[in-house]
Amino acid sequence: MDLPSFLWLWKIAAWSMGLAIVAYLILGISGSWISVRRQAGETEFGWLSTAHNLTGTILVALVLLLLGIGIVGTLGHYGNLAHSVHLPAGITVVLLVLLSAGSAAFITPESIWMRSLHVGVNIAMLLGLIWVSWTGWEVVQKYL
Ligand code: HEM
Ligand code: HEM
Repeated sequence: MDLPSFLWLWKIAAWSMGLAIVAYLILGISGSWISVRRQAGETEFGWLSTAHNLTGTILVALVLLLLGIGIVGTLGHYGNLAHSVHLPAGITVVLLVLLSAGSAAFITPESIWMRSLHVGVNIAMLLGLIWVSWTGWEVVQKYL
């Protein structure tokens, strides 16, 4: 296999994925903190809310970047898609991240449903991130 032409793809993928996992951890910590303060009766979270939303936007951007690199790189190399289970894994993660950000936009102090959806989707996202990292790494093994 022609290694150099493909190396850039998984290098950027690996770095972006590292950042995405850091963003996920920051979101988990800041989100839990918001949850604790909300249950203590607060309704405004100031900079904590701003930081959570900003990090969330970064996560959305990183995952879309990874999707773009994956599709463009694969098309450029093979001329078509669907070479492994890494494709459904990638699509699942993108959908979950968009669902999480989408549900977050509708969270109000009264909306128990949207908050539960947001938290539930984020737990599923953790499994999705593990799945996409695992399958991405497996695919990289083919070129090493
Ligand atoms: C995908 C981008 C994300 C966006 C745009 C986002 C945005 C939000 C918003 C607007 C809220 C409502 C609280 C507030 O006023 O700030 C919230 C709550 C929360 N988020 Fe996120 N979030 C995202 C991802 C995540 C992720 C990945 C996690 C977990 C790892 C997470 C965990 C939480 C938790 C635990 C709460 C508190 C729920 C409660 O009050 O009980 N969020 N998020
Ligand atoms: C949220 C994270 C990710 C998304 C959304 C994503 C998405 C995609 C998609 C849609 C493809 C095309 C697959 C196909 O048509 O068969 C692809 C290919 C690829 N991805 Fe990812 N990916 C992610 C993370 C990673 C990671 C962490 C790595 C490894 C470090 C990686 C390495 C690759 C490689 C090497 C290919 C070429 C496909 C092949 O040779 O079969 N990706 N990615």
